[in-house]
Amino acid sequence: MTKMKITPVRWIRGEYTPPGDKSISHRLAILGSLAHGVTRIHHYCPGEDFRSTLQCLKTLCVPIRVSRDTVEIHGQGLYTYRDTGDVLDAGNSGTTIRLLAGVMAGQPFTSCLTGDDSLRNRPMRRIIYPLSLMGAQVEARKGNYPPLIIRGGPLRPIRYVLPVASAQVKSAILLAGLFARGVTEVVEPVSSRNHTEYLLQAYGARISVEDGLIRIEGGHSLRAFGDYVVPGDVSSAAYFLVAAVLLPGSDLIIRNVNLNETRTGILDVIQRMGGRVEVLERRRVRGEWVGDIRVRSSSLRGTRIARDMIGRVIDELPLVALLGSQAEGVTVVRNAKELRVKETDRIAAIVQNCRALGIAIEEKPDGFVVEGPQRIRGGTVRSFGDHRMVMTFSVAGLISEEGVEIENSEVVGISYPSFFEDLHRLVEPA
Ligand code: S3P
Repeated sequence: MTKMKITPVRWIRGEYTPPGDKSISHRLAILGSLAHGVTRIHHYCPGEDFRSTLQCLKTLCVPIRVSRDTVEIHGQGLYTYRDTGDVLDAGNSGTTIRLLAGVMAGQPFTSCLTGDDSLRNRPMRRIIYPLSLMGAQVEARKGNYPPLIIRGGPLRPIRYVLPVASAQVKSAILLAGLFARGVTEVVEPVSSRNHTEYLLQAYGARISVEDGLIRIEGGHSLRAFGDYVVPGDVSSAAYFLVAAVLLPGSDLIIRNVNLNETRTGILDVIQRMGGRVEVLERRRVRGEWVGDIRVRSSSLRGTRIARDMIGRVIDELPLVALLGSQAEGVTVVRNAKELRVKETDRIAAIVQNCRALGIAIEEKPDGFVVEGPQRIRGGTVRSFGDHRMVMTFSVAGLISEEGVEIENSEVVGISYPSFFEDLHRLVEPA
C-alpha cells in the first residue's frame, strides 16, 4: 500500500497532453476483435482497466500485439472467439464486464465473467434483464452481481427504453444487437456518452441515431478501418483543468483532448461557475470532436447542476464538490444516485474525505450540497480503492494549507498510471 503526500503548490502552468481516452480504447479493442481486418489503436489508455479488456480478449484467443504506443488487434469476424473455458476477468472495470457481456450473449458457448472485490459488488441486473429479453441466459450471484455465467446463442432484437442513463447498458445492448436477427432499438431518455455509436458507424455497422433512438441491424459483419489515434481523455484532463481554475496565477493549455459533448459537462460547469476555459481549436475525427483548450485561474460562484447535465459530468462530480468548496455561495449536486454504484459509493467517499480535510459538506441520498468558499486545512484521506478519489483529493492537496496524504494511492493506475509524474512536471512548488 503506497501513501502519497501532495503538498501545496503556487500554480500550474504550461502545456499538457492527457493520456488516451479510456472509454474509446475499450470500445476500439472490443469492436476491433469482432471486425474483419486489423485495428491499430494509437495513444491508447495506459490504465489497468484497458489492460483488463485486452486480457479478456486474449483469453478468447483474439490475436493482439501490444507495443509502447500501439495495440494491434487482428479481428476475424463476429463468431471467431475461442471457448477456452477460462474465466474472463474484468478486474476493476465496469465497462469491460458490461460491454463484453453484450458480446458474449451472442457467442455460441457459455462464458464466465468476473472481476475484483469492487466489481463483484456492482449491479449487473441492468444488463442481465435486457440481454435475457434478447434470449441470452444469464446467471449472477444473488441475481445481480458478478460472477456472471452467460449462455450465449442466437438472439432476437428488442426495443428497450433505458431505465437508467448508462452508456455501459446502452452499449451492451447495441453490441448484442450485432448478433440479433433484425433491428434492435434502444431508446435513451437522457443522452449518455456515444462513443459506441460513432465507432459502430466507423466499422460499417448498420446503425442509425436520431433523437434518442438508436437502431442497429444485426447479422452483418464489421470491417476494420486500420489506424485510430485515440484522443486525450477529458476525464483525466479534468483534474488538471480544475487545479488550474483553483490555483491563482495558473495558465494551462491542454492539447488533443476529446471534446465529445456527451463528455464535456465539466467544461460547462466551470464556465457556469465563472471559470475561464476556452476551446482554442477543434477538429472532428471519426465522429469525435478533438481539440485544445486553455484554462486560467478564476474566482468562482456556486451552481446547481441541472438534472440533464449529470450524465455529461458523471465521472467528474467528485471534482465538482471541490470546486463548490472554493466557490462563493452554494453548489448543489442532486439526481446523481448512480454515484453510489461506481467503483465505490462515491457520494459517501467524497463526503468522508472532504470532512477529513476540514471541508463542511452535506450528504444527500442522491448527491451533496457544499457551500464556499472554505479553507482546506489538509490531512489524510482514503482512496476507497477508487482511482477518481485519489486524483480528486490530490487536487485538494495542491490547494490545501498543509498538504493531503492519500492512502492506497497506487489505484490511480486503474485509469492513469503517470498521473503524479504529469502533475509534478507542471506545478510550481510553494
Ligand atoms: C462509461 C460509462 C459510465 C462511466 C464510466 C465509463 C463507459 O458508466 O461512469 O466511467 O465507458 O461507457 P455508466 O454507463 O454506468 O453510467
